[in-house]
Amino acid sequence: MGRAWLAAVGAEAGAELAGVVDLDVDAARRALADAGLPGVPVGTDAVDLARATGARAVVDVTVPAAHHPVTTAALFAGLPVLGEKPAAATVAETLSLVAAAEVTGQLFMVSQSRRYNPQLAAFRRQAGTLGRPGLLTTEFFRAPRFGGFREEMAHPLLVDMAIHPFDTARYLLDAEPVSVYCESFNPPWSWYSGDAAASAVFEMTGGVRYAYTGSWCSPWRETSWNGAWRLSGEHGTASWDGDHDPEVERAPAPAGEEARGGAAGGESTGEGIAGALTAFLAALDGGPVPRGEVHENVLSLAMVEAAVASATSGERVLVDDVLERAHAEALATEAREDVRARLASWTSVRAALGTERGTELGTELGTELGAARGARP
Ligand SMILES: NC(=O)c1ccc[n+]([C@@H]2O[C@H](COP(=O)([O-])OP(=O)(O)OC[C@H]3O[C@@H](n4cnc5c(N)ncnc54)[C@H](O)[C@@H]3O)[C@@H](O)[C@H]2O)c1
Repeated sequence: MGRAWLAAVGAEAGAELAGVVDLDVDAARRALADAGLPGVPVGTDAVDLARATGARAVVDVTVPAAHHPVTTAALFAGLPVLGEKPAAATVAETLSLVAAAEVTGQLFMVSQSRRYNPQLAAFRRQAGTLGRPGLLTTEFFRAPRFGGFREEMAHPLLVDMAIHPFDTARYLLDAEPVSVYCESFNPPWSWYSGDAAASAVFEMTGGVRYAYTGSWCSPWRETSWNGAWRLSGEHGTASWDGDHDPEVERAPAPAGEEARGGAAGGESTGEGIAGALTAFLAALDGGPVPRGEVHENVLSLAMVEAAVASATSGERVLVDDVLERAHAEALATEAREDVRARLASWTSVRAALGTERGTELGTELGTELGAARGARP
């Protein structure tokens, strides 16, 4: 993925590549040589290389386990960070990064590349014309043979892939997760060690349900990598196959009833990681807080962790319980006193993330949550 980011930085007029870091410095050199950039400085530590080169920001494309240490070090060195998903390996580590961003005042944005898609933005606008949303579904059926770590993970589909549609569901509905019931399993022919298939039903704020069904060992008639989506609302239905323009069929809006309108924050700054990079740079230039800013991103990873907890326990899991457990773990394990003090000052995780009203008021807040997120400084 670092190679994809090299290309994205190279193509972005507002960015200049200062250097490339990898614990395996030869991997950095190989990637640069393959990209036709042999003279770019390399190193094994992002902060050291930034100091040596004058770099002003870090793109963190390391493995998830390294996101917390690499991002923390960069933020405390005064460098804003654009990080690959997931924000960190766990929700607890992500809360530590939320607090680190607050303590340092630096921007930490998570690149959820699949949010930057003009078809998705159009689907979101259509969703806003359907009246009250009822049920959103994603079907994801692919059969990739990755080799490597994904074939050894306990929950490869939920942990490595499902964060994309879970994050997209929050964006489409302008709603936050309340609870989940999830079953995961491994079909008998699967080439994965862990569970390559799962079905999860989330209750979202406003009472909307989001149902995800996916498999990573489902050959033929594969869906898009974005999944196939359908939103059933009060006045109609919108659907998106993940690769083409979305479609909507609906009754005319009753007189006097405004369409919910989903356009706010729905305009794409570009596609995929290029779109995320443009939004990150605009924010550094004083532009709006970008989608994926770490406060906004936490609940996408919380959906993954809650789904895994439900699949493991067989119980419905409340997202608030996941958040409060993660907060306790972050407090217990935080190495930096300033970050721990910040974590300790939070009255609740939802309040710290700016999404508390949704859990308190429960039933009618989808759109207001979106506004609250957009308004957060
Ligand atoms: N958005 C997407 O569609 C998408 C697709 C693939 C991967 N990803 C994400 O990108 C990230 C990287 O995934 P990948 O598949 O490229 O992994 P990878 O293992 O191929 O590459 C990660 C690199 O990070 C280096 N590294 C590890 N720890 C480091 C540290 N502390 N400092 C510096 N370098 C370190 C490794 O040496 C390795 O070269 C992951 O977070 C993954 O989830 C996102």
